[in-house]
Amino acid sequence: MPVTLYMGPIRGGTDHIYRNAFNRHFSGFDLAMAPFINCINQNKITRKYVHGLLPENNTGMPVIPQILSKSAEGFLHMANYLSDLGYETINWNLGCPFPQVANKQRGSGLLPFPDKIREFLDTVIPAMRGQLTIKTRLGREHRDEIFSLLPVFNDYPLGDITIHPRTGRQMYTGTPDLDTFEACLKLTRHPVVYNGDIRTAADFNRLAERFSTPGECKISRWMIGRWALVDPFLPGVIKAGKDPLTGQEKIEKLKAFHDDLFEQYSRTLYGPSHITDRMKGLMVYFLTAFQNPHNALKKIKKTRTPEQYMAEVNHFFDSDARWGC
Ligand SMILES: Cc1cc2nc3c(=O)[nH]c(=O)nc-3n(C[C@H](O)[C@H](O)[C@H](O)COP(=O)(O)O)c2cc1C
Repeated sequence: MPVTLYMGPIRGGTDHIYRNAFNRHFSGFDLAMAPFINCINQNKITRKYVHGLLPENNTGMPVIPQILSKSAEGFLHMANYLSDLGYETINWNLGCPFPQVANKQRGSGLLPFPDKIREFLDTVIPAMRGQLTIKTRLGREHRDEIFSLLPVFNDYPLGDITIHPRTGRQMYTGTPDLDTFEACLKLTRHPVVYNGDIRTAADFNRLAERFSTPGECKISRWMIGRWALVDPFLPGVIKAGKDPLTGQEKIEKLKAFHDDLFEQYSRTLYGPSHITDRMKGLMVYFLTAFQNPHNALKKIKKTRTPEQYMAEVNHFFDSDARWGC
């Protein structure tokens, strides 16, 4: 069964500029799920509000917009606006673990309430112009909350369900609970997308082996979030089944990607500090793939102007960078 790789949504990471640049420099992802967009209370949604999702700003890979909402009406309004822009699939975020979201019963905060989820789906599904998919965790407090949710999901036509096998309380600590994830596969009628801690091609191969039965691959859809920001070669290596580039070649390609992003953000963001803040956020991920990145990161974080920032980054890539953490 062919492997479908989704670029995971990382708010503050995988915006449209990043997604388009990724496509110019790397390969491996079949599609991207965009970071969540909030519903707004006004009746009129403006093009400016959905700027990062306008089709003309997404010229690389296919994109699935994601909405964070506990209001079925608000969700529908936004989902149908996005469908009118040409999106056939819209994702509902049921996984966000951050307390300021989850404490308001949004994202993973809705997971302990299967009845509210059913009510939401009862309203949304018949009135949606596109297809719905869901991205979830195992639960908010407990990993077995998912077992009350899967029967609810089974009652509705969904495109797929992405499961990140942690609870919301766990945030990103501990390890993904693969046993509970495996139990979910037997209880859902929907295609499942696996998401969580695929850091290397070896991780992917281990998971792919585990979630396959002879002659039948149960999981064919996989999502990679943080670890493709750290190592943008990873999706291509997984797809090709080989890693032909040397460390030096990777450094050169990553620098070209970095410089492209810097140029794009310089054109679109207003004010030097917005540009350097955005780039510094990305460098935190990029540098994770290098040996002993702490000194370089410290120096890069201290820079104030785009010129200082570029000088420090160039010095790193040209002199200090050693690929492989
Ligand atoms: C800073 C940050 C922002 C994120 N933003 C989103 C988001 O907007 N929507 C979403 O569904 N998940 C979001 N996630 C979760 C990721 O998509 C993914 O589920 C999670 O990082 C686990 O996968 P990974 O181990 O491949 O990174 C975010 C994660 C992080 C760390």
